[in-house]
Amino acid sequence: TFVVTENCIKCKYTDCVEVCPVDCFYEGPNFLVIHPDECIDCALCEPECPANAIYAEDELPEDQLEFIGINAELAQSWPNLAERKDPLPDADDWDGVEAKALQLVR
Ligand code: SF4
Ligand code: F3S
Repeated sequence: TFVVTENCIKCKYTDCVEVCPVDCFYEGPNFLVIHPDECIDCALCEPECPANAIYAEDELPEDQLEFIGINAELAQSWPNLAERKDPLPDADDWDGVEAKALQLVR
């Protein structure tokens, strides 16, 4: 499965959503997650993210491993997002900021 990681937080560009053939993205206030049971591993979303926040599970950087559980958990309570929308207002300023995991709103 593919996993959305920390750098999506406070950016939420949603380019990823547009290309997903199975609509398995779920949206929270400032982050998006992939439902691990619905993702078919097509890899289309990975290069689309301007924030480079999407990784194959087996290629996750060590410091992003917690996002496997975060995606699985939040995909169960957040609503589906199937169409691209505007990024968060300060997305470009937040792209690349460290320790954004602390800013995740559930
Ligand atoms: Fe959707 Fe494919 Fe990305 Fe999985 S890898 S979330 S199926 S676009
Ligand atoms: Fe987030 Fe990147 Fe998608 S910033 S919403 S994973 S395009």
